[in-house]
Amino acid sequence: MSDTPITTGFHHITMVSNHAPRTLAFYGGLLGLDLVKRTVNFDDPGAYHLYFGNDAGRPGTILTFFEWPDAPRGHWGVGGIHHLALGVDTPEAQLKWKRRLDDAGVRVSGPIDRGYFRSIYFGDPDGQVLEIATKGPGYDIDEPMEALGRTLVTPPTERLPEGRDEAAIAELTHPEPVPVVTDDMRLRGIHHITGITDDLERAHDFYAGALGLPLVKKTLNQDDGKTEHWFWARYDGTSIGDHSAMTLFGWPGSDYRARPGAGQTHHIAFRAESEDHQLAFRETLRGMGIETTDVLDRSYFRSIYFRAPDGLLCEIATDGPGFLIDEDRATLGTALRLPGWLDERRDEIEKALRPLELRDAYAAASGSERA
Ligand SMILES: [Fe+2]
Ligand SMILES: [Fe+2]
Repeated sequence: MSDTPITTGFHHITMVSNHAPRTLAFYGGLLGLDLVKRTVNFDDPGAYHLYFGNDAGRPGTILTFFEWPDAPRGHWGVGGIHHLALGVDTPEAQLKWKRRLDDAGVRVSGPIDRGYFRSIYFGDPDGQVLEIATKGPGYDIDEPMEALGRTLVTPPTERLPEGRDEAAIAELTHPEPVPVVTDDMRLRGIHHITGITDDLERAHDFYAGALGLPLVKKTLNQDDGKTEHWFWARYDGTSIGDHSAMTLFGWPGSDYRARPGAGQTHHIAFRAESEDHQLAFRETLRGMGIETTDVLDRSYFRSIYFRAPDGLLCEIATDGPGFLIDEDRATLGTALRLPGWLDERRDEIEKALRPLELRDAYAAASGSERA
């Protein structure tokens, strides 16, 4: 264990969309994320690969989408991701999101008090389950910061379904329409990612042993009070790293497997600080009997891919070189970028892709475009 390389946290998450213009309207327009790169899937150049992120695509804030128009609808299950949570600073800003999404015709549930944070839930146009979670209060509300994750914490009754006032929760919202994403509402990237496994102990060996992420919470799913729910994160005994919390529901013995497709996460990527750091992860993985791909050049980072023991597709991506290698900061995401080896096919590739322009799904849905 002492030689385990430690990841800083998530690099990106990649999801599947049936329709890139709709995805851009939702994530770029409605959620106010910056499109930092429009390119194609390097393994399937007829398909868009869109990258959203903060600060020119800072690792931990990056959401990417493959556009596969004919992909069947996926669903969550063992070996897949249940939902992606994006961070927001305050409960007040979270209520603004509830109002903005509601007004755009997106059904929102919550805010629900999860103890460690408050959460609202909704779906993207393909059915991917999303959450917006507040920064705090944090994982040390029921265990000392220096001893997180050592014992099973049973949530108090008021946080379980029987203790919730659903009618009061449903009514809670921001009093005014929210036609623009104000600075206080800015989404802060990946807050946590939650998946489903059939073996939490084996998952622990993987997240702690291969990625260097210790347990920071063992609790129960607060929507049923029974299913075990474990959290891993970058943690040194004094603080939790931003963009690093991976959580899993344990479904022991379940054969309800995730199905890949639209509205499902395709894979999750963890950070390596350098190419050497990435090779150290590869050595560790191979030492555990987990095969990885060779290092692949993804232009903006280098990647290796492998599967977690429950089947989840994972990647380790380097922090560099980043998204500014082929565009200026001011024009990031405005034109189709192709790696050199695809550039000679640019005309053919461009013709086959749907045109993309940034529309605001809020304006379209609320009618404010006409006002
Ligand atoms: Fe969550
Ligand atoms: Fe990736």
